[in-house]
Amino acid sequence: MWLWTVPVAVLLLATGGCASPIALVSSQAGPVTVPSAAPSPPSPLYPPRVPPPATPSPFDPEELAEKLTGIQPQWPRNRLPVAPAARKIDCRRVRCVALTFDDGPGEHTGRLLDALARHHARVTFFVIGQMVAEDRGENLRRMVSEGHELGNHSWDHPPLPQLSPGRLKYQLSSTQKIVKRLAGVRMTFMRPPYGATDRRVAAEARREGLAQILWNVDTMDWRDRDASIVLQRATQAAPGSIVLMHDIHASTVDAVPEILNQFTRRGYAFVTLSELYGGGRLVPGREYTSYDGR
Ligand code: NI
Repeated sequence: MWLWTVPVAVLLLATGGCASPIALVSSQAGPVTVPSAAPSPPSPLYPPRVPPPATPSPFDPEELAEKLTGIQPQWPRNRLPVAPAARKIDCRRVRCVALTFDDGPGEHTGRLLDALARHHARVTFFVIGQMVAEDRGENLRRMVSEGHELGNHSWDHPPLPQLSPGRLKYQLSSTQKIVKRLAGVRMTFMRPPYGATDRRVAAEARREGLAQILWNVDTMDWRDRDASIVLQRATQAAPGSIVLMHDIHASTVDAVPEILNQFTRRGYAFVTLSELYGGGRLVPGREYTSYDGR
């Protein structure tokens, strides 16, 4: 229960440095920062100031979802979102970019969804279970009904390689459960917080049926809260890129309309991760950083 004594603001600050430290990434073709930004130390609030429990938190995320939202086990199926029809976009022929937004949903997510809807752009949200519970599923259901995809970004954003097996499992499974309960979606992607992964994390992701999605364009938007910088970095993306951003920052959401304008002028399609990889199921546990057309 310790998690729920933490003010959301503290958690938001503590989760700000999603992409750092990048040195922990084990991918062979590790994510790169475009353009090259000087390596930065983790947020001063990293790791979170709240001590972790010695053992996995005993509460059931489904029970927690019910408690927080009033949603009962038999949540009416007609209240679950219905995703629009799948699109057929061949990213071997069309310029595609996969915009991804981590660490939400948050207070700016609705405004982001409005901007995406105006451009008929579909993206992927890597959500934090605790933020989903705080949001009561409202933004989550809107994401699904507007064609966006959801990925698992852990329950409360710890560096996963540092966790015991039980706590590691809990971080992924609890987020799976609350998203399934509130939006009816079984996620098939995860993004490890800070991009920090190892063989143990990969094995747990595989058991949970989750491909590991990293990125090849890092906007560093958690550090530089300036829409013009976020715009400049995001638009460095090339066809097949996966762009890392965070919808918990107002400056990032401010940058999105012009990011969409610029990519649109260059003939890009805004695709979800499934669309980027041709609709095929990605291999659970494996790491992906961009799409190279194969
Ligand atoms: Ni993150």
